Amino acid sequence: MISKIVTASLLILLLSCNKKNNDQIVELKSPKGVNAIKFELINGTPLYSVNHKEITIINPSTLGFVFKEQDSLSHNFEIVKIDTTSVDETWEQVWGEKKFIKNSYRQLSATLQEKTGQKKRKLEIQFRAFDDGIAFRYIFQDQGQKDSIQIMDELTEFNLKDDGEAWWIPAYQDNRYEYLFTKSAVSVLDTVHTPLTIKSNNGLYLSFHEANLKDFASTTLARTSGTQLKCDLVPWADGVKVKVKNGFTSPWRTIQIAETPGDLITSYLILNLNDPNKIEDISWIKPHKYLGIWWGMHIGKYSFWESPIQGATTKNAFTYIDYCKKFGIDHLLIEGWNKGWTPAWYENAMHMFSFTEEADNFDLKKVTDYAKKNGVSIIGYHETGSNIVNYLKQIDEGMALYESVGIHDVKIGQVGSRLNMKEWHHGQFGVNYYRFVLENAAKYHLTVNFHEPIKDTGERRTYPNMMSREGARGMEYDAWSEGNPPNHTATIPFTRMLAGPMDFTPGVLDVEIKQGYEGRDVHTTAAKQLALYVVLYSPIQMLADLPENYEGNPAFKFLQDVPVDWEDTRILNAEIGEFITTVRKDRHSSDWYLGSLTNEKSRTFDIPLSFLEPGVSYNAEIYGDPEGTTWNKNASKVAISSKVVSSKDSLKLALGEGGGVAIRFTRK
Ligand code: NOJ
Repeated sequence: MISKIVTASLLILLLSCNKKNNDQIVELKSPKGVNAIKFELINGTPLYSVNHKEITIINPSTLGFVFKEQDSLSHNFEIVKIDTTSVDETWEQVWGEKKFIKNSYRQLSATLQEKTGQKKRKLEIQFRAFDDGIAFRYIFQDQGQKDSIQIMDELTEFNLKDDGEAWWIPAYQDNRYEYLFTKSAVSVLDTVHTPLTIKSNNGLYLSFHEANLKDFASTTLARTSGTQLKCDLVPWADGVKVKVKNGFTSPWRTIQIAETPGDLITSYLILNLNDPNKIEDISWIKPHKYLGIWWGMHIGKYSFWESPIQGATTKNAFTYIDYCKKFGIDHLLIEGWNKGWTPAWYENAMHMFSFTEEADNFDLKKVTDYAKKNGVSIIGYHETGSNIVNYLKQIDEGMALYESVGIHDVKIGQVGSRLNMKEWHHGQFGVNYYRFVLENAAKYHLTVNFHEPIKDTGERRTYPNMMSREGARGMEYDAWSEGNPPNHTATIPFTRMLAGPMDFTPGVLDVEIKQGYEGRDVHTTAAKQLALYVVLYSPIQMLADLPENYEGNPAFKFLQDVPVDWEDTRILNAEIGEFITTVRKDRHSSDWYLGSLTNEKSRTFDIPLSFLEPGVSYNAEIYGDPEGTTWNKNASKVAISSKVVSSKDSLKLALGEGGGVAIRFTRK
């Protein structure tokens, strides 16, 4: 932490106080005054509204809860206390898309108390106004009640003043988060996952999400009428939304507010609402790139299970380790090394994986010893098949085994429609399960990459072993489904990825997939695959293709060079679902990298290089789409050129349909 100033000054403006009804209105403004939250108590009912400059974003909206067998906590209140603070600090990320994060906000805590009733319960609502958005959460302290609390509904509303275009995926579906984003008016939405991104008719870009989700249910957003959205907490199988003993602190409800789509990406509001790093010794947490015995399984070259084409054999692992060494890639993921894999492994059943027993032709010790000798770290894999009972029985043994052979990273899968065939991944059961696994992994010095995860809400700030997660359709969909359309990767930076890093698993340079299921191909050009490493942030990035496809391919050099840990990130141009150009500065050198990509349309951009250090000459190594290349024509070809440039120059980029450009800038 570099600086921190906390003051308790008068930040709020008492706008009115109607003695008769005891109505009160207070307003909290962000440090630069651009965003404002108005909190009012009207006839004992709490409401809030939100403005950006002169623009009203949220009209008065309700707050509160419905409990089981207890009165609702939503009305009959008076304000008994108002506390205000302000914070202006800068903190350092252990790893990330930006090294130093500014956290500057003003906070108002309103303590409400019921005016009548036996218990006169209290509820605190904390509001924070940042210059890039607003947030609020509820704190319900233990009030000495005998019965535990069962929340049946959260009444938080987002009563949007204006309609707009929303990019959304549906909630309550069997494939969790793995849907293509649809664009439609807010006024026709049903129930959707967060982050929900909206281009409002008032000209602003908004993203609705939550931060620091723990011991609570995830929220989805349900449209109740017009442009009014409401929190819809994901329930337990018995219909209760949240079960807690005596009290609770809800996650932060967040709205990121931006004047350009790129400003949504460079907003760190979600991270700022999480607690600082709790892991003291971070020496074992290392951002990295990795090869995997993985893509071969998805395209049908190898099997996950024991068979003549099994991917995870000792022999194949040795071959992959040799490739890692040759390519200078220091991590290797091996899936399917353990007992329990069958051709029907992914079907919804309480499938029994072992987390300690090796497949017949795989020797974990031999493989990890050979890897160590060659300077390669193995990434472990735990596929639970969503049989959480089975996993939790073995988790300690499984993680201890990895630690004993020097493994520091584990990918953990939860394939299945419900955890234990019963609970939604996003319900409180799932939220607590994922947190437990993350904290447990830290005990064994393991970093975590969750597949079939719940959404990210910024946990990586508190637990920097939370490296990445899937939580959207990744590259695998191009291997065995109709594929991800070109606009997918022009959409997720503004939607799914506002939550946090994604293990998208890019890097397939054989985009025509010559050795795979017939008729499948990757819906990008190869140059766009390179651009994904800059555009889609993750501290771990897979080089997903078969290593033999990298050998002798000059475009592979970009993948060898591109870092995964950044000093700074800027978005140079962007339209949601259309295109994006991102530049990032390497955290450990003076290099800059650029990734630019487009949807189905070809485009040309004139990019000013003013982000480069003034007065310095850089060599730009440019990897682009050769003329006439599109995602389905000539797509594996990459045009490589170089040019000496400085911060005063501009570069003209030409992107084919479904194409992209990747550039490395090094000081001359
Ligand atoms: C789905 C995951 O997304 C993928 O990465 C993994 O290979 C398979 N499940 C097998 O566990």
